[in-house]
Amino acid sequence: MNTVTTSLGENSYDIHIGCNILQELGVIATSVAPASKHFFVVDKNVEETHAKEAMQAFGGQCEMVSLEAIESNKTMATVESIWSSMLDAGCDRHSELIAIGGGLTGDVGGFAAATFMRGLQLIQVPTSLLAMVDASIGGKTGVNLPIRSEDGTSILGKNLAGSFWQPKVVVADVMTLQTLDDRQLRCGLAECIKHAMLGHQSMMDFILENTSAIFDRDSDVLVELVTKSASIKAKVVSQDEREHGDRALLNLGHTFAHAIEPMGELDLYHGEAVSIGLVAAITCAEATGLVDAERVDQIRHVLSMVGLPVSLPLPVSIESVLQLMRIDKKNKDSKIRLVLPTDSGAEVFSEIDETALALAWTSVGASA
Ligand SMILES: NC(=O)c1ccc[n+]([C@@H]2O[C@H](COP(=O)([O-])OP(=O)(O)OC[C@H]3O[C@@H](n4cnc5c(N)ncnc54)[C@H](O)[C@@H]3O)[C@@H](O)[C@H]2O)c1
Repeated sequence: MNTVTTSLGENSYDIHIGCNILQELGVIATSVAPASKHFFVVDKNVEETHAKEAMQAFGGQCEMVSLEAIESNKTMATVESIWSSMLDAGCDRHSELIAIGGGLTGDVGGFAAATFMRGLQLIQVPTSLLAMVDASIGGKTGVNLPIRSEDGTSILGKNLAGSFWQPKVVVADVMTLQTLDDRQLRCGLAECIKHAMLGHQSMMDFILENTSAIFDRDSDVLVELVTKSASIKAKVVSQDEREHGDRALLNLGHTFAHAIEPMGELDLYHGEAVSIGLVAAITCAEATGLVDAERVDQIRHVLSMVGLPVSLPLPVSIESVLQLMRIDKKNKDSKIRLVLPTDSGAEVFSEIDETALALAWTSVGASA
């Protein structure tokens, strides 16, 4: 088992990464976060498999609620129903919430933990690659909020309500990835590639050299992949818990991604939207003179190699996506703030020329 530490003073915690370590969840949880009751928030797709195994590690006597991991369920209504189930189960402020599933379950379960009786101990048990390397680390929890348009329709704005709530421990068992389908595995790789783009070329090389082993679910390779990628995220979070500085770099590609992810007709998973967002970001960086065309080709190559999309499945209008970028919560004074790749990593830019943005969107298939 490998252990990566997120160093946040008294809120520090370990991320344990290994194979078949779910069986040890009870011992790990009790040693770092003893609690009077363990309440599980479970992703429906892992309820009969990994969640069952995790609960057996507590002797099988656990209260739980399960949820379908779809973005339209990532809402306050779901959080309220978790609170109600916790009350029904007799949870109090000495209880502990264990979120087991993908990033969506971790975000919603984490927000329920942050708010139930003003905050309970949280344990994150990520079962998707994306959640292992990204969502379970760093304490961001939250839900989507509807954004109403003038025509009366609404779309779900990503993660617009939430809080920082650090887990007590993260337990990532790569055996759970055996049941994750390839499309979801690729989505996790999008975040790994994003981490590599922040100045970690050796991580990029590792992905290129081990692509087949990753898709074959080779457990040693997966443990190494998750350890390397989680270490990058944990280091950034350790230096900037509340995103006042360098943590914003982890949003590379995400301001673009958040504009297209809610468009139902595109049918994009989060990691796929991030992949297209990374291409748009690197193209925007080229248009701004930050990187050369060769670097753009390299990034397109690695994303394509693992089977991630590098352009939109359907054209969307540039104005519509620019409009959505303008309401991203990371903006300041209505100006689009964007993380762009540079030769040595990435930087936050607080005012981006809209011509470069339009060019970036055109490069992934958006049209005027
Ligand atoms: N908090 C953060 O810092 C952070 C960072 C990145 C993403 N996120 C959020 O995480 C979510 C995306 O996470 P995700 O990609 O894990 O999506 P997800 O939670 O929607 O899971 C993807 C799918 O995989 C299924 N699944 C999960 N583990 C499985 C397993 N082991 N076997 C079979 N199926 C499994 C889920 O049921 C779901 O159908 C988004 O809501 C995103 O906003 C949060």
